[in-house]
Amino acid sequence: METEYTPTAMMDRESRSNRYYRNAVERHWDPGEIDLERDVENLLEFIEASESYDRESWYGTLNGIAKFGAGEDAVTEDLAPLGAVLDDIDDQLFLTTQLYEEAKHADFFDRYWREVVWTVEDELGWERSNPRHERWFNDPYIELFDRNRKAQFRLLEEDTPENRARAYCHYHLTVEGILAQTGYYGMQTSYGGEFDELPHLPGLVRGFTKIRSDEGRHVGFGMNQLKKLIAGGVDPAIIEETVEELLPLVQGITEDERFQPDDPDERVGLEDGRLAAYAVDKHTDRMQQITDATADIPDVDELVQLEGDD
Ligand SMILES: [Fe+2]
Ligand SMILES: [Fe+2]
Repeated sequence: METEYTPTAMMDRESRSNRYYRNAVERHWDPGEIDLERDVENLLEFIEASESYDRESWYGTLNGIAKFGAGEDAVTEDLAPLGAVLDDIDDQLFLTTQLYEEAKHADFFDRYWREVVWTVEDELGWERSNPRHERWFNDPYIELFDRNRKAQFRLLEEDTPENRARAYCHYHLTVEGILAQTGYYGMQTSYGGEFDELPHLPGLVRGFTKIRSDEGRHVGFGMNQLKKLIAGGVDPAIIEETVEELLPLVQGITEDERFQPDDPDERVGLEDGRLAAYAVDKHTDRMQQITDATADIPDVDELVQLEGDD
């Protein structure tokens, strides 16, 4: 890390990091402005009209929201070390937008719990659920976020190209690229009104759409940083191996079935295989774009739209 002050080089407006930074500024959104009233109404109507939707089903809905909320808090807290070691002004500009966006994502989930979950529980006379209760977080979840935190803070002790590659693999490729993108896809589909057995939650879906779009940009940045590290001599096998080691943990989280009915016929929403197939497809494409010097990472407009279809 530089310790002595020297004026930094001017920005490179054509660099990917700078263009991603500008895209983040231009696509600014406020988590406080998403209308959540319809979600409360729809949930109350749905629960009152349904004979089979009970506290267990409610926990099934809350499970995904709790996991995302705590996850966004964790990534907000764990991104700063990367900001401390980055030495390129354009990378630094982008990182400030990412840090701000992770905070907004955390904000959205906190707001959703207070304004939707607790309002519904109050109306029904149910006890208020705790979004940080240990029931939501299984061992693979704790382990993945623990490893991510360590990979980021490692940079403060040993800032090497290999450790940077590992940090991007944990954070951008796995937590954001595979776990979050898969989960958002699953939640958007489940509560988008496609299934009669699940409530339609337009505020939640709107929030997910905005967040997925931001995440598409974050993942693109991580991919581009990895591509630069490989061009600078980092062995691509490190990337393959790091992500591969984390995949069973991701699977342990997306396939956490403790909140699903035991009888597979009674389960609602996406079948198990559809989520896994989506994650694997995405990851395979990305690895090819990172490791093949002739392949391009999709441009930013494509990343935020493909991933978020705003
Ligand atoms: Fe996020
Ligand atoms: Fe992110």
